[in-house]
Amino acid sequence: MSENNKIVIVYRSGSGFTRNYATWLSGELHCDLLEGKAAKVSDLLRYDTIIYGGGLYAIGINGFGLIKNNLGQLKGKRLIVFAVGASPVREDTIHAVRSANIPAELNDTIEFYYLRGGFNYDKLSRLNKILMQLKKQQLKRMENPDADARGMLESFNHPLDFTNRKNLKPILESLGHPYE
Ligand SMILES: Cc1cc2nc3c(=O)[nH]c(=O)nc-3n(C[C@H](O)[C@H](O)[C@H](O)COP(=O)(O)O)c2cc1C
Repeated sequence: MSENNKIVIVYRSGSGFTRNYATWLSGELHCDLLEGKAAKVSDLLRYDTIIYGGGLYAIGINGFGLIKNNLGQLKGKRLIVFAVGASPVREDTIHAVRSANIPAELNDTIEFYYLRGGFNYDKLSRLNKILMQLKKQQLKRMENPDADARGMLESFNHPLDFTNRKNLKPILESLGHPYE
């Protein structure tokens, strides 16, 4: 990585899981960190590499429009996105999240990673609490809930946190950054 390569990490995090990853990454890379709600595309133009992180809400990456809707202005920059969801890391999940957020023709333009976050009901916004209560009722009505459904029901009472620095290894390695 060239010393002149300026990197920024922009993130949106509803309940803190994406913030963990974004903060760890900026510590490793010694680069700028921006909270995405207030960020404008003009704030990103002075960087060469833009790393965007967002929590997953109904399979959509929180705030990703900042990147996706401004690809013209961001042309020529290296774009990396990481999505943070409660779902376990599995090939089919990664594929579903990637294809829901990044059209196939942008696969060469945007590098994609999926990192496991967690679930903390108490930290959700009022709207998300209502949505998750509906989900909870749906889960409770399942006749034969699988392990994922049971784990999700359980997590309403016991917050789950799967964030781990080690999960950042592929991103750091793709940037040529040594990972210990
Ligand atoms: C309304 C709602 C929808 C969600 N949808 C998904 C989803 O589609 N896939 C997933 O893996 N996790 C989903 N989650 C879980 C969040 O993605 C997970 O808690 C994530 O770690 C949040 O990251 P953040 O706190 O940085 O926003 C959802 C959570 C809520 C409240």
